[in-house]
Amino acid sequence: MDMSRRTVIAGAAAAGVTAALSGTAHATGGIKPVKELFGRLADGTEVYRWSLENGGTRMKVLSYGGIVQSLELPDRRGRYANVSLGFGTIEDYVSSSPYFGALIGRYGNRIDRGRFTLDGTTYQLSVNDGDHSLHGGAQGFDKRVWDVQPFRRGSDVGLRLRHTSADGEMGYPGTLKAEVTYTLTRSGDWRIDYEATTDKPTVCNLTSHVYFNLAGEGSGTVYDHELSIAASRYTPVDAGLIPTGELAKVAGTPFDFRRTKTVGEDIRDAHQQLLYGKGIDHNWVLDKGITARPEHVATLRDPRSGRTMKIATTEPGLQFYSGNFLDGTLVGSGGRIYRQGDALCLETQHFPDSPNQPSFPSTVLRPGQTYRSTTVHSFGA
Ligand code: BGC
Repeated sequence: MDMSRRTVIAGAAAAGVTAALSGTAHATGGIKPVKELFGRLADGTEVYRWSLENGGTRMKVLSYGGIVQSLELPDRRGRYANVSLGFGTIEDYVSSSPYFGALIGRYGNRIDRGRFTLDGTTYQLSVNDGDHSLHGGAQGFDKRVWDVQPFRRGSDVGLRLRHTSADGEMGYPGTLKAEVTYTLTRSGDWRIDYEATTDKPTVCNLTSHVYFNLAGEGSGTVYDHELSIAASRYTPVDAGLIPTGELAKVAGTPFDFRRTKTVGEDIRDAHQQLLYGKGIDHNWVLDKGITARPEHVATLRDPRSGRTMKIATTEPGLQFYSGNFLDGTLVGSGGRIYRQGDALCLETQHFPDSPNQPSFPSTVLRPGQTYRSTTVHSFGA
């Protein structure tokens, strides 16, 4: 926890803004997750919502899709807001969610025409985005009910989410056993650890699809948020948002976030890539590459509230999506309409369409290997 965060929490408790924080969460190093019934799927399956809190960060997670339904953070004066877009009911998540807060698998982002060849066999995946397969296909990990186990370990609290994806599910080869751990640390960091194993050669690329608005969901666009990304290159796409294979330099383009600038500064630049994405919807090639431990790659700050988020990851890529397809047709959890640019996603991942791009870092997972990926979100104000 940085000092500014410590000050905020002390200030919040002193001001009596939150009773929970001043006692339990802090002195004991977090509240053990508690669950409540959130709703039922059409077939009667119960969906639970887990609430957890530690170090000033509060989170609500659904067993459906591992969805972060709410992420509450204090601002510089200790006032809480939910900084993630979402819905209030399971029906809305099932019928119309653009992956709000969800776990994404088996493959984050697009695979060209939903097809790839591995060890001489061509696989046809579920196609759900024009001609392409997006975020694991029509019934991806975001639409599965996960087995959720709470834990408390030292000063950490968290949830262990498990899902077994059957051989051939959505067209992917191999039984994939996935385990994702959400941890809230005593300093209020949110850490995600992903693991997966397979019984046949396959591809795997897991991520999290939280839509962040550090000023609070439903409060307007994120165009005034300040962002930096430690990446000198990005992967340009074609009109269908499939990477061309090039690792293009960000220098001199709207994609240069090496020095902090606002999200909105260049978003209306008449750059062909922004036309394709209807804004920013691209993968940044992180300068650090794949690392054994999470390394810092991006910082987001809302100047109005003072809330900040730093992202560290083991992954080589970061998909920055500026909420371009939010079109005013969805009503969010706070009862307000979501419009274009009202949030952004920063999805740590391997690059889109890697199974068809031999020059990209490999996403192949073989029996006996364990897929591992870690991302840490650190908050402050
Ligand atoms: C993709 C977008 C897509 C969005 C779904 C992002 O990860 O890059 O193209 O529309 O997810 O909401």
